[in-house]
Parts: sequence; C-alpha cells; structure tokens
Amino acid sequence: MIENKTILVTGSSRGIGEATARLAKFYGANVILHATPDSEYRLKELASELKASYITCDVKDERAVQQAVKKTHGIDILVNNAGINPPELSKTFMDLTTSDWETMLRTNLLGPNYFSQAVVPNMIRKKHGSIVNIASYKGLGHVAAKPVYSTTKAALMALTPRMAEELIEYGIRVNSIAPGFVDTDMTSASITEKVQKQIDSIPMKRKAKPEEIAEAILFLASDKASYITGQTLVVDGGISII
Ligand code: NAI
Repeated sequence: MIENKTILVTGSSRGIGEATARLAKFYGANVILHATPDSEYRLKELASELKASYITCDVKDERAVQQAVKKTHGIDILVNNAGINPPELSKTFMDLTTSDWETMLRTNLLGPNYFSQAVVPNMIRKKHGSIVNIASYKGLGHVAAKPVYSTTKAALMALTPRMAEELIEYGIRVNSIAPGFVDTDMTSASITEKVQKQIDSIPMKRKAKPEEIAEAILFLASDKASYITGQTLVVDGGISII
C-alpha cells in the first residue's frame, strides 16, 4: 500500500497527524514528522519511538517551509494536516478582524500551499506523488460552522481539484479529506454547549478516533486510490447528511 514510500505528515506532533504518522509507520512507510518549532521536544520523542525523522517550521512562513523541506529526501506522499481552529477565533462574521482572517488563511490555506509547492518539484522529477489535504466537513457550506474556519477549509477543498488538474500529467494525485468531529486536543479546546449538541447529533453517536481519519488519509495517499484525484472524501459519522 505505502510500504517503503516516504511520507511527510505536517502537524504530526499530536492528534490526527500523529495517528497518521503511526499508521504509516505500521504500513511500512518511511515517516517524516513535522510541527511548529516549539513542539520539537515532542517530535524528538515520537521520532525516536517510530524510527522516523522530523522537521520543524511554522507553516505560515514560506521561506521556513522551503528550508525545512530542503532537509528531506524523496517525499512520495505529502499530508497537509497542520491546521488551527482556536476558540478565540470562533467569532461571528461581523466581529472578525483582518488579523483573524490573516492568521487563519495563512495557516489553513497558505500552509498547505507552501508545503505543496515545496515538495512538488521532486514529485515531478520522479513522475509520481500523492498529496492529501486535510479540510473539514465544516467547509461543505450547508452545515453550521463559524465563518473563518469553514471558509479556509472550503477554500482548501476548492483548491484540491485545481491542483489535481495541473499535476495529473506528472503522475501526481491530489485529494482532500473532510473529517467530522474527531477526538483530539483541537476538539476538546472548542467544546461549548452548542458544540456538544452538534456532537450529540452525530448519527453514529460518537466522535471519530484519529485512527479512523488516518485510515482514510492513507487510503487516498496510497496506490489503492490510483484512479482517484481531485476529490474530497467526507469522513464524518454521517453528520453532514442530516
Ligand atoms: P491538533 O490541534 O491536535 O494538532 C494540530 C497540529 O498542527 C499540531 O501538530 C500543531 O503543532 C500543528 N500546527 C498548528 N499550527 C501550525 C503552524 N502554524 N505551523 C506548523 N504546525 C502547526 O489538531 P487535529 O485535531 O489533529 O487536526 C488536524 C487537522 O484536521 C487540522 O487541519 C484540522 O483543521 C483538521 N480537522 C480536525 C477536526 C477535529 O475534530 N479535530 C475536524 C475536521 C478537520
């Protein structure tokens, strides 16, 4: 599936990224971990446990991303997972400031863009590669969500088929995953009465385990999905269909 492939998972110090890195290791891939420089201690621990390597950089910083990717070799699979949804930016539309928009767009949209631009030249040389962008069911448009986060994730889903179209001639596939509620620090940090009600209304009656999202990510990343490109796979326990 992804045996002996080199996979870089951004934001893999915890949560969905960590679960994806662990599962990729289990499937026999060479794993490169990534997170912010202040997560280096955790990355070092995880890298030693998984016999993986790691890089650090802020995804908002284009130069730092380019420099970090230069330290890696032969990436076959990129998972653009690093992202934020801080409770303090869960504002209504009229309260949003330019700085709120900039922080969210630079992290959740430009970050994946910078990482993809940094790894794609090597994929083009090798004439194969796979990129998976981690969006959210909140970007689907018809579900209840706060404006800035949902817009960044909608934009990432809109970018996915455009990247796929441009890169298809080089044997590179690009897809997205739109998870529902996942049991991670990000979700626990944003629990309010309203969010708890949304979680209670999930048809499967539970949040996803990070490992369940990781399986979907690695399916799209792998050659098992060799005829799938430009798509978003929604993995949400049915919440977007009610
Ligand atoms: P998390 O908060 O547990 O982990 C986020 C990871 O991204 C960490 O490793 C963090 O260091 C890294 N990161 C954040 N900002 C960064 C930056 N500026 N530069 C470099 N690294 C940075 O998040 P979680 O829950 O694992 O989410 C992962 C992805 O899945 C995110 O893109 C999130 O939006 C998306 N998602 C999460 C859902 C959930 O319910 N947890 C639902 C739908 C989508």
